[in-house]
Amino acid sequence: MYYQSKKEYKLEQEHVYHERQIEYLNSLLTNSKFGKEVRLLNYSKYVLDKWYLLKSIIIEKYLGIKGKNYTANLILSIAGFSLIGFFFISVAVSISLGTSTIGSFAGLVSFIAQLGPMLSNVGTNFKNFANHRLKVNDLINFIKETEKPMKENVVNFNEIEPRIIFKNVSFQIGEGMEREILTNINLEINYGESVAIVGENGAGKTSLVNLLLGLYQPTKGSIFLNENNYNKLDINEISNYMGVIFQQPVQYEMSVIDNILLGRKLDTDRLNIVLDKTGVRKIFKNENISEIILGKNFGKLDLSGGEWQKVALARCFYSSKPIYVLDEPTSSLDPISEYEIFDIFREFTKGKTSILISHRLGSVIKADKIIVLKNGEIVETGKHEELIKQNGEYKRLYNLQASWYKEGSVG
Ligand SMILES: Nc1ncnc2c1ncn2[C@@H]1O[C@H](COP(=O)(O)OP(=O)(O)OP(=O)(O)O)[C@@H](O)[C@H]1O
Ligand SMILES: [Mg+2]
Repeated sequence: MYYQSKKEYKLEQEHVYHERQIEYLNSLLTNSKFGKEVRLLNYSKYVLDKWYLLKSIIIEKYLGIKGKNYTANLILSIAGFSLIGFFFISVAVSISLGTSTIGSFAGLVSFIAQLGPMLSNVGTNFKNFANHRLKVNDLINFIKETEKPMKENVVNFNEIEPRIIFKNVSFQIGEGMEREILTNINLEINYGESVAIVGENGAGKTSLVNLLLGLYQPTKGSIFLNENNYNKLDINEISNYMGVIFQQPVQYEMSVIDNILLGRKLDTDRLNIVLDKTGVRKIFKNENISEIILGKNFGKLDLSGGEWQKVALARCFYSSKPIYVLDEPTSSLDPISEYEIFDIFREFTKGKTSILISHRLGSVIKADKIIVLKNGEIVETGKHEELIKQNGEYKRLYNLQASWYKEGSVG
């Protein structure tokens, strides 16, 4: 019994750890802050599989021990019951033979008094046993239900070079007090173009990207992927063409490899390329990256903002896509990390469509097309030199930064 409870204690500890992991997996599927990535990277099946695996471990181990416990109690109860029965019969026989004493009669009464609880104990154990088995069956049925296959794509774009067109797109948000976040957006992003989106905080840059990714639907106007209206497409079809690094990428509390793959098939060559080119391998030097769990809750290693950003780049570039989007991180990175991140982005997006949102106008000078947003509207579009000549919003922002840099360098 002592051995049993020690083992059970150890199991409880493991159980708590597994339950915490399960809770984390639950949050990945239900917490809105993960929503964008879950939908675009389509990893809900992977998370469910992980969840199922952990639940199975718990059920197997925990119920295994409990099961043994129940069985042990059951055997003890039955043995006790048989013993009482045996005494009861012996005393009854001895009374009938006239050999019984007052003592043995008192004993008989006390045995009978104990008989009730013993019987109910046997009953409870049987009931617990049956209940647990039923709950396990319910759980397994629930898991099977949630494992239905995902919706099939309706259109197959495999061989096309995607072009994105916004036609008179407006976008409102908010219930009751609707605000127009984007107004009458017209733009065309051709395959292979490098596009930069600039504008002050709140201008609508991230909202524009969310529309482009199919995460938001326009309130007015339409978005097209070549000749196909977005409203006819499944989000998975749109995301097949786009890799994105969000302003606040998710820091997955998983191993480095899981952070990158997120359930996608292992392609060792591709993995090695992204690990090297994004600088992720360098972060961990000679350590075995498949065993390093990131984050404070389950691992021992947390990363800096810039390092997490590199992991997000590796996750994004692990899949080869024709269009890549980088929404500049909000968390302040030092200029060197920021420069490194832009550099990695440029390297991976050569010859493809790249969409870069940046406040650092120095990083957008070479873009084929710069889109300037102000209060939800496109106020200017063109190359750097053209926009400087126009002497409008872009030049204002550019000069503002230039003077900020000069002051910064003097200080
Ligand atoms: N989910 C939302 N609910 C309500 N308002 C929103 C939501 N998302 C964006 N907004 C509002 O829309 C406007 C544009 O936001 P958006 O995030 O697109 O700006 P941004 O140009 O990306 O800004 P930043 O440079 O700070 O990242 C802001 O005023 C913002 O408050
Ligand atoms: Mg933004």
